[in-house]
Amino acid sequence: MSLCSISQSSRVPNSTFFAKFFLDKVTAPAFAPIPAPITSWIGIDGVALVIGAGQGIGKTTALSFASAGASAIVLSGRTVLTLTQTAKEIKQLNLPRPVETLVVTADITNEEQVKNLFAIAQRKFGRIDYVANTAGLLGHAPGPIADLDIQKIKDQLATNAVGFLIVLRVAIKFLLLQEPHSVPGISSLSHPPVRGSIVMLGSAATHQTIPQAAGYTMGKYAALGMMKTAALDYARQGIRINEVAPGWTMTPGVTSGENNMEGVADMVAGTTPIGRWATPEEAADVVVFMSSPRASYAIGESWVVGGGVSVKPTWIQ
Ligand SMILES: NC(=O)c1ccc[n+]([C@@H]2O[C@H](COP(=O)([O-])OP(=O)(O)OC[C@H]3O[C@@H](n4cnc5c(N)ncnc54)[C@H](OP(=O)(O)O)[C@@H]3O)[C@@H](O)[C@H]2O)c1
Repeated sequence: MSLCSISQSSRVPNSTFFAKFFLDKVTAPAFAPIPAPITSWIGIDGVALVIGAGQGIGKTTALSFASAGASAIVLSGRTVLTLTQTAKEIKQLNLPRPVETLVVTADITNEEQVKNLFAIAQRKFGRIDYVANTAGLLGHAPGPIADLDIQKIKDQLATNAVGFLIVLRVAIKFLLLQEPHSVPGISSLSHPPVRGSIVMLGSAATHQTIPQAAGYTMGKYAALGMMKTAALDYARQGIRINEVAPGWTMTPGVTSGENNMEGVADMVAGTTPIGRWATPEEAADVVVFMSSPRASYAIGESWVVGGGVSVKPTWIQ
């Protein structure tokens, strides 16, 4: 029977109907909630491995991967306690699709530990689609270049340059062995599938300059060079390599340690064109976007998330 064939009188609801209708509206949603799609617009649907996931940008990157649709996240760094806390916070997101987490400690200055990390992740999840290396040492040896402590510089480079190289090497060797991944509804001729994506954390310091931080800047320039070379070396083998280069971001790495923040916080906010510090989430979300198939043509890019610092204003109002 078509709707047109129902007589008008038989379709007029009585007052009980209206009462029930409005009652239903306040006690239950008018429509059943739409189940979250398996694949979100951004197309993150596989396994992410985040190094440095215990705090700061790494922790928020892990949380952002979870919200964006990753099915599993490997959380790595040197401290079990903070990594376990990140795993707990991912669970507390109460996402429509559960996200499996795995905590594996590794020091990126030690190649055997990094190889072990990838091997454990592979045994547990079979493949890794997105590698995000956020581990880094900030403000370890500030001062004018002639006064710098060479040993401290070497320690900082061991993480920010050599550790970066180790992660890059191990990740590339791992990704080369897996088949390109297709994301349903996204990977197609327009967004070709890849074996995997690697996003490293650089710094806006390589697009501008931080005074009194030669050790840090040196490591980040080395990292930028490696990232660009590696991106070209593997561009035709289905591995996308990029970096996110944050400006001043309020994280434990900045506010603790040897950094003297007295007066610096206000000065940074005042001289950054956007007028404030970044939140770690603002850097993390760009890491996740660059990892996603929506960024499929981005290779060897360093995306500055700096509130305008790389624009080099001649004056700030
Ligand atoms: N915050 C900023 O303003 C800013 C600006 C530009 C660039 N960045 C870059 O963004 C990245 C993250 O910075 P953040 O501010 O989030 O730093 P953070 O708060 O200090 O966090 C760094 C993380 O890296 C881990 N880590 C350090 N050394 C490691 C090693 N050798 N092996 C494995 N894990 C290690 C730390 O955990 P464990 O100590 O437990 O291992 C920690 O979870 C860094 O590469 C940094 O250079 C930050």
